[in-house]
Amino acid sequence: MTLLSTDTLPQVELDFMNEDHAEAGALINLLNAALDQLASGASQDRTAVTALLDQFYEHNRDHFAHEQAEMERTGFPAYPVHKGEHERVLEEFNAVIEEWREGMPAASLQNYLADSVVPWFINHINTMDSVTAMFIERQG
Ligand SMILES: [Fe+2]
Ligand SMILES: [Fe+2]
Repeated sequence: MTLLSTDTLPQVELDFMNEDHAEAGALINLLNAALDQLASGASQDRTAVTALLDQFYEHNRDHFAHEQAEMERTGFPAYPVHKGEHERVLEEFNAVIEEWREGMPAASLQNYLADSVVPWFINHINTMDSVTAMFIERQG
């Protein structure tokens, strides 16, 4: 099942950020599809989900680091706030991945994606990322 329609993701003023957001959205959908296989009993193999979770974590770490490097380069005033939010969510992802490794049920991870990750992601793009992209775009 498609959790997130990547062609309706909010767009910001910088292409590199839009590309990263499309990639994050695609990974969320792949994760959800792999979880559907487990939840329906079509598969018993949790390793595909584990590999996608690792990929999702690494994608976000790099995606956030790129935004942070641009904020630093241009002297974005709210840099510490935006960076702090990235750090907070990475810690949360890390804790959930740990729970998954310890046997978290597929349905619980699906609920976390649908009820926490997707709304967080859309809200983060609409607020911090959008303001940051506008600022960076104006600094050139
Ligand atoms: Fe972003
Ligand atoms: Fe961000």
